[in-house]
Amino acid sequence: MESRKDIVTATDLHREFRTPDGKLQVLKGLSLTVKKGEMISITGESGVGKSTLLHLLGGLDKPTKGEVLIDGENLSNKSQDVLARFRNDWVGFIFQFHYLLEDFDALENVMMPLMVAGRSKSEARRKGELLLEQVGLSGRASHLPRQLSGGEQQRVAVARALANEPEIVLADEPSGNLDIGTGGRLHDLLFELNEKNSTAFIIATHNRELAAGCHRELEIVDGKIKS
Ligand SMILES: Nc1ncnc2c1ncn2[C@@H]1O[C@H](COP(=O)(O)OP(=O)(O)O)[C@@H](O)[C@H]1O
Ligand SMILES: [Mg+2]
Repeated sequence: MESRKDIVTATDLHREFRTPDGKLQVLKGLSLTVKKGEMISITGESGVGKSTLLHLLGGLDKPTKGEVLIDGENLSNKSQDVLARFRNDWVGFIFQFHYLLEDFDALENVMMPLMVAGRSKSEARRKGELLLEQVGLSGRASHLPRQLSGGEQQRVAVARALANEPEIVLADEPSGNLDIGTGGRLHDLLFELNEKNSTAFIIATHNRELAAGCHRELEIVDGKIKS
């Protein structure tokens, strides 16, 4: 990859949780850098801290120690309000479960982050239709989530994550809930979107095909990136 700028810089991240049994140290000084447009997989055993890391990188949670910079901006200095706006503009999330709004159709779900960002309804609709086309769902715009298959629901979630053209998409086991064939098609879609939009993807996954298809594969072992 040519000398692109760093879009995510995490330095010495620590995250511990208080539990009834005492403190649980999950991340223990984890550092990583992701360049603009890079596609990175995060692997590691269940419970090793992959989701914890993604939450910190997306500003959904704060580290016990250490910092996250997104395009040079330190997330820890931001108020909850500013952080929420920042997330909506800069970061797209894809989870194992789609978390689509059940009472809104596919198109409306994709329009939602655009409306939150203050776009007009007609503009959001235009963009939403384009995004559904990109993920191969033009014919499903008016379907409610429950009227879609698992793979289609996840494609809508992908379109929604890309709505505000974020610099970074964080995906937490995006194909964890899909059968092999459907998962494989989702992976191809993610590779294609990464190439087309030069959006950085950071993907926690157990799937070998997806991990191996990324530009870099990082493994978490004992709270840090394995070197
Ligand atoms: N809010 C929380 N409170 C207490 N423990 C937590 C919390 N979130 C995660 N954990 C624990 O931290 C560890 C890492 O969790 P997680 O990041 O979800 O792992 P992974 O995504 O790699 O499977 C697990 O042992 C989990 O039980
Ligand atoms: Mg997880």
